[in-house]
Amino acid sequence: MAERLQKIIAQAGLASRRAAESMILAGRVTVDGQTITELGGKFDSSSQRICVDGKPLTLAEENVYFLLNKPKGYLSTAKDERGRRTVLDLLPEVKERVYPLGRLDNNTEGLLLISNDGQLMNGLLHPRYKVDKTYVARVSPVPTENALDKLRKGIRLEDGLTAPAVVKLLTVAADTAKVEITIHEGRNRQVRRMFAAIGTDVKALKRVQFAGLTLAGVKRGAYRPLTADEINELYKIAGIERV
Ligand code: URA
Repeated sequence: MAERLQKIIAQAGLASRRAAESMILAGRVTVDGQTITELGGKFDSSSQRICVDGKPLTLAEENVYFLLNKPKGYLSTAKDERGRRTVLDLLPEVKERVYPLGRLDNNTEGLLLISNDGQLMNGLLHPRYKVDKTYVARVSPVPTENALDKLRKGIRLEDGLTAPAVVKLLTVAADTAKVEITIHEGRNRQVRRMFAAIGTDVKALKRVQFAGLTLAGVKRGAYRPLTADEINELYKIAGIERV
């Protein structure tokens, strides 16, 4: 769509419309290699090459937000140099340059947020905001209440003491137990290492909740967009003013 040059520059987030006008008048803007110094012309940013100070404009992408139910066997990265499957392979229809917010191990399943909103990502991942993450772990052998208390109080791992966790024994069948654990730290393989520290082995791990969001209605391998209310709530949790 043809639009005024100052509007295109402003939409790319480079300057206000007024400042963009000054850039044009100062001869800093080219369209398809030709310097434009008048304000009235209309151009099409999708088919014409627009540069400011010789640098092409990158048009700001709209921010998008998805909640994915990650199956096992998908890496939580945007790309893998060895060509293994990544979580982005599960969102083939999404054209924006999205990436996962944080990580789940390859063999962990469950809730993973996917977005291109770097500001929100940084806020949510910052340890200061203590975003709750709840996991259900199938562990063996069945841990004693005493052992679970150690997780509740905080347990020493090789990278230091963990913060207190909320831990519930859900079910027991033979030598295996299902345990729900809520933590707000995000250290590498933290839940697996916490259970290892009390002498239990994690046989399966699923993240069921993140920052108050759940997997309700999202089947394994499927995803859904977040609602506007959910996005606003995440912004609040991350302590960020929405601009
Ligand atoms: N803790 C783990 O050990 N693995 C995960 O994938 C997430 C949390």
